[in-house]
Amino acid sequence: MDFSRRAMLGAMGGLAVGGSLAAMSGNVIAAPAAPEMTGGKDGLFDQQYGLFGWKPKKIDDIPGAMEVAYKGYWYKGLGCGYGAFYSIVGLMGKKYGAPYNTFPYSMMEVFKGGMADWGTICGALAGAASAFFVFYGRKEANPMVAELFRWYEKTAFPIYNPGEAAQGVKGELSTSISNSVLCHISVSRWSYETKLAANSKERSERCGRITADVCKKAIEILNAKIEAGKDWKGALAKQESVTQCGACHSKGKMSDIVKGNMDCAPCHSGSDHVQNKFVNHP
Ligand code: HEC
Ligand code: HEC
Repeated sequence: MDFSRRAMLGAMGGLAVGGSLAAMSGNVIAAPAAPEMTGGKDGLFDQQYGLFGWKPKKIDDIPGAMEVAYKGYWYKGLGCGYGAFYSIVGLMGKKYGAPYNTFPYSMMEVFKGGMADWGTICGALAGAASAFFVFYGRKEANPMVAELFRWYEKTAFPIYNPGEAAQGVKGELSTSISNSVLCHISVSRWSYETKLAANSKERSERCGRITADVCKKAIEILNAKIEAGKDWKGALAKQESVTQCGACHSKGKMSDIVKGNMDCAPCHSGSDHVQNKFVNHP
């Protein structure tokens, strides 16, 4: 499928002609021809432009995108997943139009609060990972996700500071390392360490800033991927725990009963935080 300027002008030309005809006859404007439907079999699983048919575009202004990610987080309260996704695919839509601008961006609200407030995956990560998967299937996108998620586990957040443009609270915020991609662990650990409530304005501000941080890393990964194509490889090695525990708990090993690539340590290291709180606990 060709998204070149010529193809787009062609589509717009069709609209203009439809418009003038409509003006003459008083009829409703005819929709432009629907894009090609491919990818499926027997009419099932067809998709406009085919599977992974949208071409990714590099985003050059990363600081600008971070500002958009942060603003998107606050926009109508749509949250982290929306902010991160919009700062990638939304900006392509703003610059290049269709097909990017046909995406129903607001669906990304589902990731707010770790998915409809369930505290599962950090929504900023889910939004960014979704943006990768708009363009690439698992073979190419999984390593991109791994690079983003490993970086997130080990980074002290938040880094971004919107300065005077802050919409929650202004000024520096204390940071913490989550060692986890989960919203629950990321937020709870930060709240525990900073003594700032999980339902406070400060915590919202933190997550808005993390949305910008995730946007930056995700765009760096996407830009590098676009440049290197199939040759792109992440820089970050597997976490120590995943290597260590995976020696037995992985495919083809003695105890293949574990799913996932998350750092095992926060949950299985036997720290005070994960001991039984149902007895002798206030
Ligand atoms: C030398 C091999 C080996 C390594 C390394 C290993 N495990 Fe296991 N683990 C086993 C086996 C075998 C079982 C028994 C479960 C089964 O029947 O498959 C088990 C069981 C478990 C169980 C369930 C039973 C229990 O004791 O709670 C957990 C949880 C677990 N492992 C976590 C881990 C974690 C986390 C690591 C890394 C720190 C790890 N394992 C590293 C071999 C290993
Ligand atoms: C977010 C927390 C979390 C992370 C991260 C995590 N686990 Fe678990 N894991 C659990 C919980 C909770 C269970 C279920 C425990 C139960 O059965 O009561 C579980 C179950 C298991 C089991 C099955 C046996 C059992 O105890 O039920 C194994 C083995 C295991 N985990 C190993 C690992 C390994 C290896 C990693 C890292 C690759 C890992 N886990 C990452 C929380 C976690």
